[in-house]
Amino acid sequence: MAEGVSIMRNDKSLDLEQIRKLKLEFTRFMMSYKFAMDEVKTKIDILNQEFNYVHEYNPIEYVKTRLKTPESILKKMYRKGYELSLSSIRENIHDIAGIRIICSFVSDIYKISEMLAKQEDIQVIMCKDYIKNPKPNGYRSLHLVVKVPVFMSDRVDNVSVEIQIRTIAMDFWASLEHKIYYKYDRDVPEDLIKQLKEAAESAAELDRKMENIHKQVLEFNNDNDYDNDLQNLLINNEGFHIPDAILRLFMINDSI
Ligand code: GTP
Ligand code: MG
Repeated sequence: MAEGVSIMRNDKSLDLEQIRKLKLEFTRFMMSYKFAMDEVKTKIDILNQEFNYVHEYNPIEYVKTRLKTPESILKKMYRKGYELSLSSIRENIHDIAGIRIICSFVSDIYKISEMLAKQEDIQVIMCKDYIKNPKPNGYRSLHLVVKVPVFMSDRVDNVSVEIQIRTIAMDFWASLEHKIYYKYDRDVPEDLIKQLKEAAESAAELDRKMENIHKQVLEFNNDNDYDNDLQNLLINNEGFHIPDAILRLFMINDSI
């Protein structure tokens, strides 16, 4: 189906063959988002593992991914009043592929986002910092929309992926707020709004305290950096001995 053509029209019935073709095109459209999401997820997993070796802790607690359903894509197009075409969906809906990264500490959120943004094949097209500028209801998170190239059998598509990065405390708050919002059908009583806002402040305070404790522990580690396993390496749960001659290959200059 050519880009720019309306997706479905109720006044025109489609024969089986047409439906089959359209379904194939739509499947390819959705697959491109799935592939983009998988690519970014792999990048995040690699950063997490590499960070663990270099800095000896995991900056990421866990990662969630989700593809927007065709129904919610349609709903969002109607809600925002966009023209209904494939190219318009590609241009305007940035969260068909969604990734949520849950970090241990606020500083990790910025580290991860910078490490992703620096990668050559990632183009950041939008960045909203709801941590520095929380929403009036108290919502905090760092939002990025990135584009990544997806290499398919006959073409390369630049596909957008929405990445939300937040701490465990921010995520705890956002999931409760989300539930309340839907429970009250978007019309949350004033008193609950006030309590939620206070809870968001407490969560932010907790994040500051945890970060502080974490920093002190890191400093303690650096002061006591004694390692019995200097010549052993663990990758993929497999232990490797590092021979002297191999270690020496990584000498940058004689000053080491
Ligand atoms: P959408 O139309 O939902 O995409 O919002 P937007 O275009 O204004 O973008 P924004 O970056 O503000 O929000 C994108 C997503 O962040 C939402 O779909 C939610 O997943 C999350 N989000 C934003 N604001 C809130 C909030 O106040 N509470 C919760 N729980 N989640 C939020
Ligand atoms: Mg959204």
